[in-house]
Amino acid sequence: MPVITETDAWARLAALQEGIATTTLADMFQRAPARADALGWELDGLWLDLSRQRLNPEIITALCALAQAAGLDDMRKALFSGQPVNATEGRAVLHMALRDLGGLTPAGFAATAAGQKKAFLEFADAVRAGTATAASGKRFTDAVAIGIGGSHLGPQVVTTALAEFDAPVRVHYVANADATDLAGTLARLDLSATLFIVASKTFTTAETMRNARSARDWLAAALGEDAVAAHFAAVTSAPARAQEFGIAPDRVFGFEDWVGGRYSLWSPVGLSAAVAIGADRFERLLAGAHAMDRHFVEAPDGENLPVLLALCDFWNRNFLSLPARAVLPYDERLRILPAHLQQLEMESNGKGVTLAGEAVALSPAAVVFGMTGTNGQHTFHQMLHQGPPLIAAEFIGIAEPGHDLPHHHDMLLANMLAQAEALALGSREGPVERHCPGDRPSSLILLKRLDPERLGMLLALYEHKVFVEGVLSGINTFDQFGVELGKSLAGPLIKVLAGDSGASPNPASAAAVARLKAWRG
Ligand code: F6P
Repeated sequence: MPVITETDAWARLAALQEGIATTTLADMFQRAPARADALGWELDGLWLDLSRQRLNPEIITALCALAQAAGLDDMRKALFSGQPVNATEGRAVLHMALRDLGGLTPAGFAATAAGQKKAFLEFADAVRAGTATAASGKRFTDAVAIGIGGSHLGPQVVTTALAEFDAPVRVHYVANADATDLAGTLARLDLSATLFIVASKTFTTAETMRNARSARDWLAAALGEDAVAAHFAAVTSAPARAQEFGIAPDRVFGFEDWVGGRYSLWSPVGLSAAVAIGADRFERLLAGAHAMDRHFVEAPDGENLPVLLALCDFWNRNFLSLPARAVLPYDERLRILPAHLQQLEMESNGKGVTLAGEAVALSPAAVVFGMTGTNGQHTFHQMLHQGPPLIAAEFIGIAEPGHDLPHHHDMLLANMLAQAEALALGSREGPVERHCPGDRPSSLILLKRLDPERLGMLLALYEHKVFVEGVLSGINTFDQFGVELGKSLAGPLIKVLAGDSGASPNPASAAAVARLKAWRG
């Protein structure tokens, strides 16, 4: 594979970038009023609008040529056929098999996934129906999902987006090692009607194991040791470890190592979400994701939503020097999405070495941050409008509200469009301090409604987008060795803080430990 920055496609894009350098978005709209049509694409109630980006159809064509030069077609085939595209760990990457309704992935993988799905969805519905009961025989009113990273954020996005206010079981999430998370959650619950779901692919993650042990002790102290079995379930690809922890084998839901943590919400890791929304709606979520998988495999690059979104973000970072992207869902039901995308994008593509073992010469991932609108307008949007630095934005809006107060929704959507307009066109009115330069690019994603199908499509859209950006950058999107170093350094420091071993050999840490110990008394 050629070095992408040395291809003809790259040189063409560099020339196109120079060509538009002095053109404003206002000019672009004036010259081509049909821009919004030319740069908008719809798939089953999901609309992607790139008309406020600093690009045009010619640039999109050139970016598609770049994707071809990077080997996108072959890499996508390798991904879907179960090749070990996670090369550093020698693993296939087949979360698409978990939602495969029609032959996109190898049959063996999809069959394994289907069996595992049946087991966890049956359990989810039994909890909701009150047939899987607490130790006392009464039904569960609450479930506490314990897990972190991919074993937390994906399911929490789904639960927050789709759980009804009057769901039979309320689902809560505990992730942080900070016991404020666990204690604050448990303080509000009746433990005798609470189910704990421990989700961890490895079943070794320190925070999750710490929280799971504390929850177990808490429950045993309140209800007695004999109650523990009825109140715990586990989701893991290391079932022996879950049983060792004391969870009954029929409450351990397994999945395979070809499901990466941040891609695992479709697997039994989604159990907490399935408890929140029910098996039927979970199946519809999977069907929506499958529709996006099929689109990603079949649509030509120039009409392919994940490819287009990836190319646009890649263009912003590598040709327009916009290193960050604000994810701005204008819907409270999507309030966890920015955090989920932080993990999905920055843990997947925050890498400095290519598959060939060379230093990455370009920017594979954005710095992702965000908040729901309109809240963000009253916090960091000031910088989006007038700062340096220049930051790309991504607005997400839902046509149909999730409530019966339409005036709120009109206000919400009007604000979203006003922000996109202000960023794109700016204003020169009044004294210079009031000027907004404009020309700040944004994407707009609109969903017809926030139902399970559309949410599945949206989440799968981002997954494939991240894959394409990884291909363009020549990196392995699916490992995460960068998180290991901090974990291994934390172990000895725990002992130092607990007083079980001497001072830290690192002078800066030793000074901080001394200060912490003095202040903790
Ligand atoms: O530390 C990073 C990470 O490995 C993520 O990739 C993963 O989602 C998370 O930790 C949790 O891992 P596990 O599911 O094994 O507890």
